[in-house]
Amino acid sequence: MGLRSLSCLCLALALSQGAPPHNGPMEDDHTPSPHHEGFQDRCEGIEFDAITPDEKGITFFFKGDRLWKGFHGLSEPLNSSFHEMVDHHHPGHVDAAFRMHHEGRPEEHDHIFFFKDDKVFSYYNYTLEEGFPKDIQELFPGVPTYLDAAVECPKGECVTDSVLFFKGDEIYHFDIKTKALKRKHWAHLPNCTAAYRWLERYYCFHEHQFTKFHPVTGSVVGTYPKDARKYFMKCPKFDHGSNDTERERCSHAHLDAITVDDLGKAYAFRGRFYMRLDTQRDGWHAFPIATLWKEVTSGLDSVFSYEGKLYIIKGDQVYIYKTGATYTLIEGYPKTLKEELGIDGPVDAAFVCGADSTVHVIQGRNMRDIDLLATPRTVVKESRLPFPKIDSALCGSDGVRVFVGSEYFHYETPMLLAYSRIRPEPHKTSLDMLGCDH
Ligand SMILES: *[C@@H]1O[C@H](CO)[C@@H](O)[C@H](O)[C@H]1NC(C)=O
Ligand SMILES: *[C@@H]1O[C@H](CO)[C@@H](O)[C@H](O)[C@H]1NC(C)=O
Ligand SMILES: *[C@@H]1O[C@H](CO)[C@@H](O)[C@H](O)[C@H]1NC(C)=O
Ligand SMILES: *[C@@H]1O[C@H](CO)[C@@H](O)[C@H](O)[C@H]1NC(C)=O
Repeated sequence: MGLRSLSCLCLALALSQGAPPHNGPMEDDHTPSPHHEGFQDRCEGIEFDAITPDEKGITFFFKGDRLWKGFHGLSEPLNSSFHEMVDHHHPGHVDAAFRMHHEGRPEEHDHIFFFKDDKVFSYYNYTLEEGFPKDIQELFPGVPTYLDAAVECPKGECVTDSVLFFKGDEIYHFDIKTKALKRKHWAHLPNCTAAYRWLERYYCFHEHQFTKFHPVTGSVVGTYPKDARKYFMKCPKFDHGSNDTERERCSHAHLDAITVDDLGKAYAFRGRFYMRLDTQRDGWHAFPIATLWKEVTSGLDSVFSYEGKLYIIKGDQVYIYKTGATYTLIEGYPKTLKEELGIDGPVDAAFVCGADSTVHVIQGRNMRDIDLLATPRTVVKESRLPFPKIDSALCGSDGVRVFVGSEYFHYETPMLLAYSRIRPEPHKTSLDMLGCDH
């Protein structure tokens, strides 16, 4: 499968929420400001009331009448963004919050729902929707008042589009369409004061820690709890000492490789980092390649996807991974390029278009087409490209993009790439593909 609509990647841009978690050079923006009453430094270790992303993928952290936007930076008063949550007699607070995932109802999809006592508030674009607040019972019958936490759970991750509500040690699965409510008791999970879905993963926050859990079974795999300051905010004493991936993402250096896997996950690779291109709803982030593909770690030459598999080419080796929730190296790999594709390295770029079985391999000025169904593999066609060196290439439903330095060029088909005399106008990769503002 190709990239369904690459153009949608290019829309939701300029949404950068500052640095991604667990990396980056230390900045002074955590320094407590002594003039602020009610100031709280989240690097001291805070038990949050609620955590939710907004419709642009910026994560909000709530505590009392303070609000943090994004993974770094100072807090601001809750009432400067959501003044209806604060009344004249009480300092504001939020019991729970989540962002609605409901594709079938655009009037609710991507709205942020806040819960306070027995009321629910729906915001979009920082504006309280008409008719709100409402009683929780009216919208979410059976869900208790004075909640502790809430989190969206879209179909595919839960059985149906759902919301998980938390109160004490009880969890309520609420089906958005049928309004069916199921109560669960996950004794091993700590009582969550905030719950958060990020990049398809689910986190229960308690004290200044968090525990990752499965949204259907509640199972916890791995060593938890972990300290939230190490992963979800930039705190000097908890810095991993890694590089600034934000700077990494927006640098104008060339991309080593770019692909969309058969589940629709889009990746760009540079140095030892990968960037997801299809998750701008959760913000833009770069991660070490080794976290998903530990056998390769850095300096990839090209990556392409075919028939549920991800092919990574590095030097004269080909690594083939089975695509799934995680990537599993197929037994017997890596193999040499000669063995797998019948060619010698190095390879600059490689791509497959849709369900076609042809992999187009770019080496210098040459594009070599190899049929992945034929054995032994042989070059069935060779063409001369109008570029001396291409860094990476991607084929989607709307054509081929070839990446050269900090720019890319768009062709409607691989044929046109091979034979067109006119070079299309260049696009800036950082601006149009990676969500940067320059
Ligand atoms: C927010 O609340 C503070 C005090 O709690 C008040 O001084 C300030 O004027 C309020 N701001 C808005 C925009 O309502
Ligand atoms: C969001 O609100 C601002 C003002 O608060 C307004 O200018 C803008 O048009 C709104 N955007 C949408 C998409 O409704
Ligand atoms: C969790 O919630 C239950 C029910 O409200 C309560 O009895 C229990 O003490 C809580 N556990 C902790 C560790 O707070
Ligand atoms: C940061 O990046 C540089 C250059 O890419 C690399 O040499 C260095 O080892 C990296 N540092 C860490 C802590 O990963």
